[in-house]
Amino acid sequence: MKTYSIATIPGDGIGPEVTREARKILDAAGDAFGFALTWQEYPFGAEYYLKHRVGLPGGSLDELAGHDALLLGAIGDPRVPPGPLEHEILLTLRFHFDQYINLRPALSFPGVPLPVPLPDGQAIDAVIVRENTEDMYMGVGGSGRGSYHQDIAASRGRYTLTGGVDVTLPDGMESAFTLGMMTRGGVERVTKYAAELTRSRGEKGVTVVSKANAVPHLYGFWGMVVREVAAGYGDLEFTFVNVDAMCYLMPRRPTGWGVVLCPNLFGDIVSDLLSALAGGLGLAAAGNIGDGLSMFEPVHGSAPDIAGTGKATPLAAILSGALLLRHLGEGEAAAAVDKAVHSYLTSDLPKPVEQGGTASTSEAGDAVRRYLVK
Ligand code: NAD
Ligand code: IPM
Ligand code: MN
Repeated sequence: MKTYSIATIPGDGIGPEVTREARKILDAAGDAFGFALTWQEYPFGAEYYLKHRVGLPGGSLDELAGHDALLLGAIGDPRVPPGPLEHEILLTLRFHFDQYINLRPALSFPGVPLPVPLPDGQAIDAVIVRENTEDMYMGVGGSGRGSYHQDIAASRGRYTLTGGVDVTLPDGMESAFTLGMMTRGGVERVTKYAAELTRSRGEKGVTVVSKANAVPHLYGFWGMVVREVAAGYGDLEFTFVNVDAMCYLMPRRPTGWGVVLCPNLFGDIVSDLLSALAGGLGLAAAGNIGDGLSMFEPVHGSAPDIAGTGKATPLAAILSGALLLRHLGEGEAAAAVDKAVHSYLTSDLPKPVEQGGTASTSEAGDAVRRYLVK
């Protein structure tokens, strides 16, 4: 029997609650489709960080690299100031394994209430292709008082960036900066991915999110390289929309978007907006895809406000699991998981709390399990 080795980092807050359900469904899919998953669970997250003062211990990245895929819950905890934990674990994983695509499909399901009702017969079927390694997420920057020098360094699969920034300011004046950067190779590969995905969906248009009007160095470069790549795809039409206009247009017309190509930061923001329009963060799946280890995780975070209450929707984690199966080459099993989620959400069974129902996290997982068939 085919066996896959899967690493899992349940993480913080609702992360363990939703990944438990995803594992349940993926194991059931293996049983139905004739493959096995061996799970290796890693305890990384806030608890581990508070104890050991490190996000990922030495050697863990090499060990993770030996698995076929990684399923992550969520990272982030109110006991740790925002930033270090997410950076040391989540972003480090994305960068180290050069997971340059963050694929975030958004589907609406009949029976799930939406904040903006759709015209009869229409559904949301969009996918955000978010660049996942560069932009404002480079992680280089600093802060100081008066004049100071800040070394900068960032390492990616494609390059190592080193240098320094000299800040000259009046004595005593505090300042902080972050360096956003993009490379031609980084923009080219994500644009090609979005173009190929658009073709494979049988669509003609790609929406490109930008903000070259206000940040011309960074997003002007983004637009220039995207346009150059686009010239090689004469069958497709690339339409540029500024991110502010995107946040205006999407709620007014939630359908018909198809592939939405975003730089890292705007992709983060537009993902949550689109997930709200499509029925909730608890339905929004994601895959961080690269040429090495790929990582699958819900779009949502650790939701400390509902952790431990059973109110978390596990469907984003389960659908991320379906993306993981597809990545392994188990396309039929992935489609069966997608279908089971669809069947559950269109059934008469109680829906999760976020979707207006009363089902607990594990009841929602069990319901998906019931509809999972070969
Ligand atoms: P969040 O996504 O955790 O929560 C935003 C809102 O959505 C909350 O009201 C929450 O209750 C709700 N929500 C999220 N997921 C849900 C689900 N599955 N079912 C029902 N409701 C759900 O975003 P936040 O509050 O900004 O972040 C909380 C923590 O998570 C922070 O530490 C943040 O850095 C971290 N975070 C981690 C990831 C990740 O690991 N991939 C992603 C986003 C945020
Ligand atoms: C996401 C999250 C992360 C991001 C945070 C936790 C660093 O919001 O996966 O969408 O901004 O990418
Ligand atoms: Mn986000």
